Amino acid sequence: MSTAIAVEALTVGFGDFIAIRDLSFHADYGTVRGVIGPNGAGKTTLLDVLTGKSRPRRGRVLLDGTIDLAPLDEVARALAGIGRKFQKPSVFEALSVWDNLDLALRLHRRSLLREVFAPAAAKAAPIAALLETIGLTALRDQAAGTLSHGQKQWLEIGMVLVQEPKLLLLDEPVAGMSEEETAHTAALLHRLRAPGRSIVVVEHDMDFVEQVADAVSVLHEGRTLFEGSMAEARGNAQVIEVYIGR
Ligand SMILES: Nc1ncnc2c1ncn2[C@@H]1O[C@H](COP(=O)(O)OP(=O)(O)OP(=O)(O)O)[C@@H](O)[C@H]1O
Ligand SMILES: [Mg+2]
Repeated sequence: MSTAIAVEALTVGFGDFIAIRDLSFHADYGTVRGVIGPNGAGKTTLLDVLTGKSRPRRGRVLLDGTIDLAPLDEVARALAGIGRKFQKPSVFEALSVWDNLDLALRLHRRSLLREVFAPAAAKAAPIAALLETIGLTALRDQAAGTLSHGQKQWLEIGMVLVQEPKLLLLDEPVAGMSEEETAHTAALLHRLRAPGRSIVVVEHDMDFVEQVADAVSVLHEGRTLFEGSMAEARGNAQVIEVYIGR
């Protein structure tokens, strides 16, 4: 399996505080990697460094395991195929589900400097396909503000998918979801698996992680405490001590 993203000897600090210490991490194409660990472990900070939102003090971030991302800012990294869904949904509530996706697609195409004024028909097919993927076809004309919390999260995942990301980063995608919505999200992640895509999911819901992730990294105080399957993580004494047992 080929490496989608790797970090080597990464250190990230805020003033005197070190959030990530000498961390190594990688995620492969065709897989879903879970990232778990207690509050403040550095999970969101890791995603911030991958997207270029935060800059490391030391260490490297390598796309495809080889391309040093240091020269690329957030926009350039998005265009290079790094897509991120933040924890809080930020859909346009007054617009319909369809128009939210249409807007995301237009913004993306404009940034690619192509098809700024593409005819509506050229966009209809990809939007319809996205709606099927995220399971919102029946709600396409409904204002996004009327959606449930889970439906808004799926819409936002759709708005990231218009970038056709080869690395998809999700920060706590099932936080606040009902059991049924969580199950739907697990099914959605299975649909999003693709040989040319790597998915990194930060989550506290360990049952969800067990369902979707091929392997997990357990972070603690900015370091990797454990790497392996979720089932192995559940049985690891150190992981139980710092995280699961709490
Ligand atoms: N911009 C910042 N300035 C100062 N400290 C920060 C900043 N961003 C994160 N931190 C600190 O870095 C540490 C790691 O935070 P991070 O958000 O990465 O944790 P996390 O693993 O995502 O936790 P949670 O599970 O609660 O979301 C925390 O102690 C946090 O307070
Ligand atoms: Mg976080």
